[in-house]
Amino acid sequence: MAREWRARSPAPAVTEALGEELGRALVPGALLALSGELGAGKTTLVRGLARGLGIEESIVSPTFTRMRALPGRLTLYHFDAWRAGSEELLAEGGEFLAGAGVAVIEWAERVERWLPCPRLALTLAHHALEERVLSCALVSAPPGSAPGARLLEHALLETLERGRRTPGLLSASPVSDP
Ligand SMILES: Nc1ncnc2c1ncn2[C@@H]1O[C@H](COP(=O)(O)OP(=O)(O)OP(=O)(O)O)[C@@H](O)[C@H]1O
Ligand SMILES: [Mg+2]
Repeated sequence: MAREWRARSPAPAVTEALGEELGRALVPGALLALSGELGAGKTTLVRGLARGLGIEESIVSPTFTRMRALPGRLTLYHFDAWRAGSEELLAEGGEFLAGAGVAVIEWAERVERWLPCPRLALTLAHHALEERVLSCALVSAPPGSAPGARLLEHALLETLERGRRTPGLLSASPVSDP
């Protein structure tokens, strides 16, 4: 199974649908790291993710709280690393990363070095007014990791694949630099 894919989203609803597919398939301990500039569509994707997890609360960027816990099929820990130093992020939310719920981080590129593996990394980039290029990849656990990490990695691969098949996603050139 491929460990990464690239696609184009032609509309916010498709980005949201991708989030929903991922949300239905995520397992406890999953971490989804979202990168991409202002307005790239990170929160839009989280909105779909919440729907896929059966979360009823409305989704807003947790910029001022840095983390919101949203109960659903699994609790979603929604982080925003825009202003957070890694220390704050981990102090406030470290225990929720790789816990019993699932975690999603906006502006993950800012705290990447401190994020646990395995995880799914999803980057959104502007392409046109309504179009975004999405790159999704599995970041593997290091060799020799605990069996639990291997199991999680396997589940994340399946989630990745399921996301790739989201109706409405358009093809994009293969990833050249992983
Ligand atoms: N294909 C698309 N996918 C996602 N959003 C899109 C798309 N096309 C247009 N948009 C619009 O782009 C905006 C994305 O805003 P959103 O809040 O999701 O971005 P963000 O990456 O979370 O930004 P911020 O960095 O400010 O948190 C929305 O207004 C959305 O409607
Ligand atoms: Mg946002």
